[in-house]
Amino acid sequence: MADLVARFRDVFDDSGPVRVVRAPGRVNLIGEHTDYNGGFVMPMALDRAVRIALVPHDEPVVAIWSVQFDERAEFRLPSGLGTPLAGLRPPWPAAVPGGEAEPAGAPHWLRYPMKVAEVLAEAGIALRGFRAVVDGDVPVGSGLSSSAAYEVASALALLVAVRPDVPAAPAAALAEAHGLSAGRLAKLCQEAEHRVGVRCGIMDQFISLHGRAGHALVLDCRDLSFDAVPLPAQKAKVVVIDSGVKRRLSSGAYNERRGQCEEGAEHLREFDPAIRELRDVSLALFEAHADRLPEVVRRRCRHVITENARVLESAEAMKAGDLTRFGDLVNASHDSLRDDYEVSGPELDLLVEIARGVEGVFGSRLTGAGFGGCTVTLARPEAVEPLRAAVLARYEKETGLAPRIWVSEAAAGAAVEQ
Ligand code: GLA
Repeated sequence: MADLVARFRDVFDDSGPVRVVRAPGRVNLIGEHTDYNGGFVMPMALDRAVRIALVPHDEPVVAIWSVQFDERAEFRLPSGLGTPLAGLRPPWPAAVPGGEAEPAGAPHWLRYPMKVAEVLAEAGIALRGFRAVVDGDVPVGSGLSSSAAYEVASALALLVAVRPDVPAAPAAALAEAHGLSAGRLAKLCQEAEHRVGVRCGIMDQFISLHGRAGHALVLDCRDLSFDAVPLPAQKAKVVVIDSGVKRRLSSGAYNERRGQCEEGAEHLREFDPAIRELRDVSLALFEAHADRLPEVVRRRCRHVITENARVLESAEAMKAGDLTRFGDLVNASHDSLRDDYEVSGPELDLLVEIARGVEGVFGSRLTGAGFGGCTVTLARPEAVEPLRAAVLARYEKETGLAPRIWVSEAAAGAAVEQ
């Protein structure tokens, strides 16, 4: 963190009091592609995060230096007319509602804070400009929600700029100072992601804001109620393995899956008008009428309906300390994502296969949207090194890709750190 502040002073030659906000990425233990169906998920916040160091100023302009992209870019806030900042290059892209005023050449990473500014302004927050440096160690494009972390960090930066007097505290306190709940803030960040182009669910933004150290959250994505379940760190480690296959979520496949789920819910509503989303479909009703669904839609629905049941059962298993059962459900989740939802791939399948062959591994599955990215494996502490060795012995040889492996602790959610 000290480095980020030093970097800020370096880039902007500004000696004003620097505020620092932090928002973590996440790994989802179980409950995939259920959130946008009103269902259940079980993510934990990661000890990897996006951080922004900022100093507010009186221009309606947000100027950001991205350490990761080694690039500086600016945008004008949705309202107010300012004079150009010394050293900045007009014209700025304008974050106006529905605005297509983003000039060609605005870097992709700038779209996240721009869209967050847009939705916050629409929510009635009178925004203030700032200069900032952003950095993070959530791998980009690896299915660990680097974009949600960036959206949440951007939201906190924008809110802190308006109230630079707020003390360092968890994000909920800052949201409250603006008359928002942390849940509402998560929804605003989700809306920003939609505007970037992915019709994501609420999971990633929610866990980034609500994560609890040492716990996973069992979240009901319909009403946002949740239960924090302690992770038994003495008995099991959460191992995240990056396949090295990069994915871009805005690609059509994610939105296509969501559309297929909506189509399935619409068909099934015919048999029970109370069905709003796949969350409302029981396995019995699905099985009774599955033959009425187009084949692909049927498999998509089967994944979501069985996955919701798996989340609820795995929460019970975790609470009861039954890690073997938990692991079986994790394995079943992967198989369903591979066969019915079709979001895995040869590299993720190979990582899962290797992990399942290691003694002391409870279960292994792809995590996040799929189409590349990471797997999550639950393993006895003494199985972590054998797992690492098994992956290193086979994965690169068979795929030509270098895996990255790390053991993750469940971290706290987003906060104003300084
Ligand atoms: C992405 C989305 C989430 C969720 C997962 C799949 O991470 O952002 O909302 O849908 O994919 O479970």
